[in-house]
Amino acid sequence: MPDFAFAKPALPKAGALVLLIAEGEAPWAAADSASGGGIARALKAAEFTGKKGQSCTILAPAMPGGTVSRVVAVGLGKTGELTRLGAEEAGGTAAALLAREPHATVAAQGLTPGLAAAAATGMALRAWRFDRYRTTEKDSEKPRLAKVTMLTEDVAAARAAHTPMAAVADGVFLTRELVAEPPNVLNPAELAERCRRLEALGVKVEIFGPKELKKLGFGALLGVAQGSANEPRMVVMHWNGAGARAGRGHKDAPAPLAFIGKGVTFDSGGISIKPAAGMEDMKWDMGGAGTVVGLMAALAGRRAKVDAVGLVGLVENMPSGTAQRPSDVVRTASGQTVEVINTDAEGRLVLADVIWYCQNRFAPRFMIDLATLTGAIIVALGHDYAGIFSNDDTLAKQIQDAGEATGEKLWRMPLAETYDKQLKSDIADMKNVGGRPGGAITAAQFIQRFVNGKTWAHLDIAGTAWSSKDAPCVPKGATAFGVRLLDRLVADHYEK
Ligand code: BES
Ligand code: MN
Ligand code: ZN
Repeated sequence: MPDFAFAKPALPKAGALVLLIAEGEAPWAAADSASGGGIARALKAAEFTGKKGQSCTILAPAMPGGTVSRVVAVGLGKTGELTRLGAEEAGGTAAALLAREPHATVAAQGLTPGLAAAAATGMALRAWRFDRYRTTEKDSEKPRLAKVTMLTEDVAAARAAHTPMAAVADGVFLTRELVAEPPNVLNPAELAERCRRLEALGVKVEIFGPKELKKLGFGALLGVAQGSANEPRMVVMHWNGAGARAGRGHKDAPAPLAFIGKGVTFDSGGISIKPAAGMEDMKWDMGGAGTVVGLMAALAGRRAKVDAVGLVGLVENMPSGTAQRPSDVVRTASGQTVEVINTDAEGRLVLADVIWYCQNRFAPRFMIDLATLTGAIIVALGHDYAGIFSNDDTLAKQIQDAGEATGEKLWRMPLAETYDKQLKSDIADMKNVGGRPGGAITAAQFIQRFVNGKTWAHLDIAGTAWSSKDAPCVPKGATAFGVRLLDRLVADHYEK
């Protein structure tokens, strides 16, 4: 990650210069006059007007007295309409245009300190890259942005605004890394160990192995895990940031918020095995868990004034002689039995046990689960919106609003008795699939059977956890969808 510094406006002598320009406005006068009006002329020739998303690169501008290597102009859109997300995206767009520049100076002095900090955050979000397994790439091929200087009139305020944003970005990076890791490295035990590292941020971490899970009666989760040579885990992470007075244990302590993630480190489908083409994508079937871990890191990293628990159910879904069979009946922690018709509908089995445990142990204020749960949600919504299902209109609206604010958007999907009927089994309390029609909805209905009257939302992120194309603040690959969204939800409504 580049280093971010904040400084009073002064023309850089070298490196790249980023100009963030509102629609219809002139470029930074000091830079333009140093170039003898060349920057303004170049932007005019390129028909750059400062529209949102527009950009223009000027290589080696003639600026006597220095060796500025490039000017990157990025449009902010209309003054007065610039949001935090807009500033982040402008920063991200700029970062992508910096090629192999080691140092960039960003003329952000026209922005409020908060928006300047957001632009810096967007640059970091876009510049991130997972390099652990590239051993032959030459240094001359690697991006090398090492330092960014943000120009602002109020250095102290911009720096203060940037600190918590950088903590959230670190949470995003943790999630992206976990999701990008290959499944031979990141099996359930290893993912649990990565959770353990959050202790350094003040998070309390508990890890449950197969013995403990058996004692808790997690028959559904264990049924999924039984085909794999890699043992399952459940991890419970606690962040107690509400403060001593209102803290947990106190009689007036508010109940914690609960976040629950599906963590299938590889989903082969099990005995109901998936087709070979595209199966490699199923390494990111732990995306929900990855998001919960990154969110806990974000909340702890910015010392959020809230009590939150994060629970992840970690398994690998494999076919083998010990694997569960279609037609097996498993007993969940809730006591309800499930006929496993399709071993590829495994995520809901994992979530059923973890959700039941979560509400009984913590009586949380709400539960939000995240899961790469169904291909059907991709058929319904594509890759631009995740599906949200909820038994509470207020919570659903809060989450959707946070989605609009962070660009992690959600579309509300229905829950209804009639869909629930599709889960009827001839031998057990329910079956684990409801047939093709409304596949994402029947999956949500299945999960709801393990929600015992608690306020709850289910986010089906199968279409949004990974992206095949770059976005301004999200390089293609693991998106960490949900980290910024839920961090914002907490900040806007649950920290007081
Ligand atoms: N992990 C998959 C869902 C998925 C599919 C995520 C494609 C991302 C991309 C899930 O475990 C699964 O296999 N779901 C099945 C359910 C079906 C058997 C009822 C599906 O969607 O096909
Ligand atoms: Mn599956
Ligand atoms: Zn799955």
